[in-house]
Amino acid sequence: MARIVLFENIHPSAREVFAAAGYDDIVAHASALSPESLRDAVRGAEVVGIRSRTHIDAELIAGNPDLRVIGCFCIGTNQVDLDAALTHGVAVFNAPFSNTRSVAEMVLAETILLLRRIPEKNDRVHKGFWDKTADGAFETRGKTLGIVGYGNIGSQVGTLAELAGMQVLFHDVEAKLPRGNAKATTTLKRLLAQSDVVTLHVPAGRGTHNLINAQTIAAMKPGAILINASRGTVVDIDALHAALQSGHIGGAALDVFPVEPKSPDEPLDSPLRGMPNVILTPHIGGSTQESQENIGREVAEKLVSYLRAGATKGSVNFPEVAYQERAGSARILHVHRNVPGAMGALSSLVAEHGLNIVAQHLQTRGPIGYVISDIEGKVDDTIVSVLRSHPVTVRCDLV
Ligand code: NAI
Repeated sequence: MARIVLFENIHPSAREVFAAAGYDDIVAHASALSPESLRDAVRGAEVVGIRSRTHIDAELIAGNPDLRVIGCFCIGTNQVDLDAALTHGVAVFNAPFSNTRSVAEMVLAETILLLRRIPEKNDRVHKGFWDKTADGAFETRGKTLGIVGYGNIGSQVGTLAELAGMQVLFHDVEAKLPRGNAKATTTLKRLLAQSDVVTLHVPAGRGTHNLINAQTIAAMKPGAILINASRGTVVDIDALHAALQSGHIGGAALDVFPVEPKSPDEPLDSPLRGMPNVILTPHIGGSTQESQENIGREVAEKLVSYLRAGATKGSVNFPEVAYQERAGSARILHVHRNVPGAMGALSSLVAEHGLNIVAQHLQTRGPIGYVISDIEGKVDDTIVSVLRSHPVTVRCDLV
């Protein structure tokens, strides 16, 4: 039974999934470990579960031949050397959707709060003033929300915003099926010119670096609101600061920043601090109890599906083979170098041992091929040892 080592206080929902599937050899560490302690802790593990603070490099992967699969119980996977994992036949999974709803709800809440100017009013009452006025306060009903990046989160924001009576526009570099009554705009500029609230849900990268800058801000409606819960590099903060000072932007909510503090007691360095019409949050858009629980469950289910059946759908580095019903008496998972003759070698060795392949599913990705073979016949570890010693094999497991 697979040995599972978890780090960084992964939610107990993961353990529940493992236990329900019969995996109870689990060691759980409450935090990330130093590189030396990490090396000791992962020795002999078949499954390693981490969050964002544990770095798994090529050396660690190469030094742990028992390691079959890594679960990143978070969204990002750049803490793992994915190429090294692939070339050593180690599949890596993450949880891309588990906190979608949490981000979307926060964006809707901020939309309502900023349209009503609640942050400023809250600040005034705390300071002893009682400005009872409707000036500059609006309902969401009938207002236009412009969503830049209509992926998992953007489209979920659109669904919630429609429930609050908003008209939804979106702009994406890819063609997307509109949800509800949402409408795509052909250009970013068109979206900006029509939206009362603009919310950003694009990935970081060259194509989105300073997507919101002095020019694009100038294209926004006077008094419009900007929300960024995507990545800090998407907004030129100085340009936003100037537009907030001039009043061209009526309010903003930022959850992410170009440079974020590394520890809880390090203050955020930003010209936006202290502005009463700006909501600043410490990158917590996806951080809720529900999302942590969902992440624990989502990743653990993927790991169990891989351990039991070899399914790799949703893996971030591996050739993807969806879950398949088992057809024979045993299943061999074979990871090999993606070279001519690899499949022939596998088939011949299986046949030489008097075994019959009754179903086979192959996918390749770059230098690696991955094939699930369902076998009829009396299968034991001998065939696995033979396959493992073949030069084309990267790893081989019987499940
Ligand atoms: P996704 O990949 O599902 O959607 C991103 C969308 O942006 C895609 O549809 C893509 O085609 C589109 N896109 C890319 N470049 C674009 C451009 N230049 N203009 C317009 N559209 C463009 O990603 P998902 O899951 O919706 O996440 C969105 C962002 O939210 C990511 O940056 C992610 O890192 C961030 N995020 C932030 C969290 C937080 O705590 N604040 C939590 C989770 C995700």
